[in-house]
Amino acid sequence: MKAIRVDASRAYDVCIERGILQKAGTLMRAVKGNTRFMVVTDSNVSPLYLDALVDTLGDNTASFVFPAGEQSKTLSTFGNILEHMAGVAFTRADTVVALGGGVVGDMAGFAAACYLRGVDFIQIPTTFLSAIDSSVGGKTGVDLSAGKNLAGAFLQPSLVLIDPDTFQTLPTPVFNEGTAEALKYGVLYDPALFTQLAGGDFNENIESIVQRCVELKAAVVHEDEFDRGERRMLNLGHTFGHAVEARSGFSLYHGEGVGIGMLMAARVSERLGIAVPGVAQSIREALLQNHLPTRCAYDARALCSAACVDKKRMGDTLTLILIEHIGKCVPYPIPISDLLSIMKVAAEDA
Ligand code: GLY
Repeated sequence: MKAIRVDASRAYDVCIERGILQKAGTLMRAVKGNTRFMVVTDSNVSPLYLDALVDTLGDNTASFVFPAGEQSKTLSTFGNILEHMAGVAFTRADTVVALGGGVVGDMAGFAAACYLRGVDFIQIPTTFLSAIDSSVGGKTGVDLSAGKNLAGAFLQPSLVLIDPDTFQTLPTPVFNEGTAEALKYGVLYDPALFTQLAGGDFNENIESIVQRCVELKAAVVHEDEFDRGERRMLNLGHTFGHAVEARSGFSLYHGEGVGIGMLMAARVSERLGIAVPGVAQSIREALLQNHLPTRCAYDARALCSAACVDKKRMGDTLTLILIEHIGKCVPYPIPISDLLSIMKVAAEDA
């Protein structure tokens, strides 16, 4: 088992091992002692792993299951989780467990942050994407009608358990969107990781790839837990990607949007002379090799209005993350008035 320490306001381990779910109870008790657990999960994950997990945690364990999907990431579901916690007389000594993908982790974590003004929680991500991104670093939240993740809190988990065997039950596009996020760590910080992923077909090495991504995320969270500096670099591909995702009516997966968004950022970086030539082509090939979409089917004006409501906007300025070369990116603030011309370059279909 590999354990990576996340040194944030609360320090905790991210433990990674194939089959780790079978010993989850022992590992969780080692950290939390004689607490009572409530497992929050969704309708996709519960038939696969809930009973097995509860068996390792004991009879006193509570659970809450909500319908799978981003459409459940609402204040209403969030309220239902809190009501359920109160209904089973959850106390400050008890611990919420998020078992599932990013929607489950974000909402269970936000419920833990709010119930009795804060109880502990443990993350057990079951998707590649949530394992290497949202389960580490303590961002929790829900969507509002005006946009995704508009309400939330920082709460670091007490422990994260990642069992890469759970990725085997993911539909292929859901696994692949995790690959886009892993490629993002390569573009930001690690050319060797990028090259390994760009070759595709890396399933045999999934454990070490997850480890490397989590090490990189842990280092960013250590430096900037509250998202005021370096952590914003993790938004690479997100301004363009969110706009494409939004224009698709969220029929594109988040990671697919991030992949297209990185390619758009690379095109802009080359056009502005920030990137060495060829970066966009390397990213395009890496996406194609991993069966990820590369085409942006929307016009610049429509993308521009979607990007203008981005929560990363600060007044009249939006900070894009652009690419110098694979392994090195830079923040690049632009006035909103320049966004349309930049979007025209970004949305060109090479
Ligand atoms: N998902 C980006 C972050 O954790 O900051």
